[in-house]
Amino acid sequence: MKNHFYITTPIYYVNDKPHIGHAYTTILADVISRYNRKLGNETFFLTGLDEHGQKVQEAAENLGIDPKKHCDKMAPRFTSLWDKLYISNDDFIRTTEDRHKKIVKKILQIVMDNGDIYEAEYEGLYSVSEERFITEKEAESGVYRDIKTLKEKNYFFKMSKYQDQLIKYINSNPNFIQPNHRKNEILGFLKKPLNDLCISRPKSRLNWGIELPFDEGYVTYVWFDALINYITAAGYSKDEKLFQKRWPASCHLIGKDILTTHAVYWPTMLMSAGIELPISIFAHGWWLMEDSKMSKSLGNIINPMDLIEDYGVDPVRYYLMREMVIGQDANFTFKSFIQRYNSDLANDFGNLLSRVTTLIHKNFLGEIPKPGKLSDQELSIKSKSENLSNQVTKMIDEMRLNDAIEEIMQFIRSVNKYMERNAPWKMVKEDKVGAGRVLYTAGEALRIGAVLLSPVMPNRTLILLDALNSEKVNYSWGGLLPGAILKKHDPLFPRIK
Ligand code: MSP
Repeated sequence: MKNHFYITTPIYYVNDKPHIGHAYTTILADVISRYNRKLGNETFFLTGLDEHGQKVQEAAENLGIDPKKHCDKMAPRFTSLWDKLYISNDDFIRTTEDRHKKIVKKILQIVMDNGDIYEAEYEGLYSVSEERFITEKEAESGVYRDIKTLKEKNYFFKMSKYQDQLIKYINSNPNFIQPNHRKNEILGFLKKPLNDLCISRPKSRLNWGIELPFDEGYVTYVWFDALINYITAAGYSKDEKLFQKRWPASCHLIGKDILTTHAVYWPTMLMSAGIELPISIFAHGWWLMEDSKMSKSLGNIINPMDLIEDYGVDPVRYYLMREMVIGQDANFTFKSFIQRYNSDLANDFGNLLSRVTTLIHKNFLGEIPKPGKLSDQELSIKSKSENLSNQVTKMIDEMRLNDAIEEIMQFIRSVNKYMERNAPWKMVKEDKVGAGRVLYTAGEALRIGAVLLSPVMPNRTLILLDALNSEKVNYSWGGLLPGAILKKHDPLFPRIK
């Protein structure tokens, strides 16, 4: 197996205000990247911004500034959020960068030279107020004004030519589109004849885009431009050796809203350009707010900044990763957020740390006791911890993050029960060695749990691991060092009232 791991997020529209949905995809990619780095896989994690198109041009015009200036002003809303959320991306791509524009032109030229781009007159319903072609259904909806029939010359990509090849590819690579129900959705879509894709916009209508290398009167359609970011950042046509190493991407992580562009447009573009297809495209579901879709018009968009300020970054990361069964929609409610926080983080996880450290301070002058000879109880915790890291790795591989987290929390809960059963606070009076063994075992189990949870909560687990003053990265048994002195720490997860 190749031990290079390349994961991407969608590149977000620079004009949008980042919300919990964008934060979710990015945190998910971050958590998976961190697990891969821990496993020793060389990892490349890419995110970035999609900066061309009508909306950006309009916003800049309204402000009376140059569109690039507008993008530069908006971009930090994303980059500073990613910093706050401890996103460990290795690269950040913006489609207005020269490195990207060059590659888009290059691909367009290759596809053109291949005979896969042709010119045609397109006739359709055009809404002047929206400045785009609309469907008949949209025209009937009464939402759009100034509708006229417009004839326009454009360039088209022969997507239809690759339909059969794509169907064959999907069928012979069962993990290409995940989860399975999304693959079936695409195969269903591909039962109807595929249209060719209009990949240009006349400059008279839109000029904020990448100029076609073969016609200066046109710019590139924003999706044809945006998808190429994944190979630009991998070093395509710039650093062949690097590109060989990074490409094909291991996983394009996306939301279900952009499945067709990734699972149909992108692979056919790559086929035409003679580039290998990505290994997998994984579409997750949506975060709903109290059961309805988050949208500007409903006014129910959750701003991740507010949540972080109120509850801290790690609990937000934990909640998002624990609560969503990847592939399905999930419901964000403040009630479930607080319940999760209090039960998993304050009661189970935080409580175990404070019990262990309080007792070690009180009875062993803050010095981690020796484990001594382990009894069956301790041997069973030790062997559980050994299985746990394998189970977690397997679940992450299968994108079952919520299950992996639950598995770790069950382990922590079983250690809390072990503490209650053995009551080292009582035991210490008659059997100090025994109490030391129990505290060592509970502390070591907690340390391993924290190492396993560190990709999800990189900040608070580090505080915990620091407090234990022992091995911080290794999850095999014995990293807690007898004789090490516990360090002072703030309460890890104070209960939310
Ligand atoms: N610019 C395109 C993507 C181009 S990729 C080559 C785009 N951008 S976007 O800003 O609209 O971001 C879309 C992505 O944000 C979704 O695919 C998803 O990953 C994430 N989410 C946006 N809203 C979401 C939810 N309510 N819930 C979960 N994720 C969602 O599309």
